[in-house]
Parts: sequence; structure tokens; C-alpha cells
Amino acid sequence: MTGTTGRVALVTGASSGIGAATARLLATRGMRVVVNYLRSGTAAEEVVAGIEAAGGQAMAVQADVREAAAVESMIEQVRAAWGGIDVLVHNALTPYVIKPFQDMTWEELGGKLDDEMRAAFAVTKAVLPAMAEQGWGRIIYLGTGLSHQPREGMIALGTAKAALVQFARYLAQELGPRGITVNVVEPGPVEDTRMAAVFDEEHKQRQVAATPLGRLAHPGDVAQAVAFYASEDNAFMTGTTAAVNGGMSMY
Ligand SMILES: NC(=O)c1ccc[n+]([C@@H]2O[C@H](COP(=O)([O-])OP(=O)(O)OC[C@H]3O[C@@H](n4cnc5c(N)ncnc54)[C@H](OP(=O)(O)O)[C@@H]3O)[C@@H](O)[C@H]2O)c1
Repeated sequence: MTGTTGRVALVTGASSGIGAATARLLATRGMRVVVNYLRSGTAAEEVVAGIEAAGGQAMAVQADVREAAAVESMIEQVRAAWGGIDVLVHNALTPYVIKPFQDMTWEELGGKLDDEMRAAFAVTKAVLPAMAEQGWGRIIYLGTGLSHQPREGMIALGTAKAALVQFARYLAQELGPRGITVNVVEPGPVEDTRMAAVFDEEHKQRQVAATPLGRLAHPGDVAQAVAFYASEDNAFMTGTTAAVNGGMSMY
């Protein structure tokens, strides 16, 4: 097998935003793509139809990534059709509250931490056996710049994603000897996502003004970084984070 042709990639939360853009890009690179979703079946089928119309291969599979049994049954469905998963892009965005710590309950903060890590744990556990057996795998998690640079009201997401980054580093250390790389892509604010819709135009213009490259990211910008980590070209980067933020935050 050369390049990425024929590899099977699972993109969690691929019915929308960054996940949908990533699914499309990986398909153009010759991967067979699993478009996971939770509620937006129609949108997921549209992503699949777009990939197929462009000559690629994709399938939509519903599963709540926080539920280990649902994740296992998704992986089983993929295994029956295409075999084991070579590339995991864990991108699904579970809900979280935006509010100051002062007004936050433990259920809100602890709930997000639990959802974030439970989902990462479940999807990683489920894809690992096939990757370990073949001695090759690519795991990419979607983090956020908010893990490094706090922003008002974002303590639940920023803290949960910071835990995800350290989880990724531990996995990179453990799985390197098995030929599996583990990396995190950390976007700044991304247009055309549900999160972008939360903020008004004035807020957006302030963010653009603070970005040396003069605009916010598009989902496709983030997908490019993910696709690099997912490819054979990434032979020697593991345990790293890639900031896709136009220079808004440099760390
Ligand atoms: N947007 C930004 O500005 C930004 C910035 C930094 C980092 N990120 C990170 O990038 C990733 C993608 O963000 P996005 O803004 O593109 O997301 P989005 O547009 O809100 O889409 C979220 C996706 O996650 C899926 N999803 C939610 N809960 C799920 C669950 N329990 N099981 C399976 N799928 C689930 C949704 O599926 P359904 O619609 O089918 O429910 C949807 O496909 C996230 O990890 C996010 O933290 C985003």
C-alpha cells in the first residue's frame, strides 16, 4: 500500500464543521472514510454523498462516542465492511457550558471532563487492537487553543481539552513502539462551525484584529493539519500539538 490510498479513517463528529471538512479531505487523499455522527443523520449522509460524487468512498455511522457499547458496534460495522481502522480522527464536540467558574456547578465542569475523556477513551480503545496488530496507526485528537490561552467563560472546555492533550502524550509514549503516532490539532476560532454562531460580528472582528494572518480559520484549514498527521508523510511526529490559529496565539 502506498501513500494513504485504501486506508480506513474514522472521523468522529463528521456531520458538521471541522469533522465534515476533514472527512472530505481525507477522502480526496484516497482514504475510505467513516462519517460518524450523533443526531444529524441527514447532514452526515450529505457528507457521504459529496465524497462519493467526487469519486471517493465513505459511510455514515451513527454512534454516541460517549457510549463504549455504541462505539464498539460502530467499529464492528466498519470492520465487517472495510476491516480495521487505520486512522482515528477524534473530533466530536460534546456539549459544555460557557460561564464563569463562579457560577459553575461541579456537575457542569465535572460532566464535561467526564464526557471528553470517556469519549476519547472509548474511541481509542476500540480502534487500538487493529492498529497494534498491523504495527501502523495514526491517532489525531481535536483540541483547542483555549487549553493554553484562557478566554472568559471557557473554563469547562479549556480544562477538559487540556486533559485530552496530556492523555495524547501518554498514548504517544506507550504506542510509539507499535508504530502508532498520536497528535493533537488545536484550532483557534473557526468559521462555519456551530461555535462560531455563538458569537456576534463585533466579537468576530476583534478576533480577526488579533490574528496576524488577518482572518479566522475555515474548517478546511484545520483539516489540512489533520490530514498531514494522518498521512504516511508524518513519519516522525508524535506527542505533538499543532496550533491552527493564524498566529492569534503563539505557544
Ligand atoms: N469551532 C471552533 O471554533 C473550534 C475551535 C477550537 C477547537 N475546536 C474543536 O474542533 C472539534 C470540532 O468542532 P466543530 O466546531 O467543528 O464542531 P460542530 O460544528 O459543533 O460539530 C460537532 C460534531 O460533533 C458531533 N457530536 C456531538 N456530540 C457527539 C457524540 N456524543 N457522539 C458523536 N458525535 C457527536 C456532532 O454530530 P451531530 O450533529 O450528528 O449531533 C457534529 O458532527 C471539537 O473537538 C472542537 O472542540 C473547534
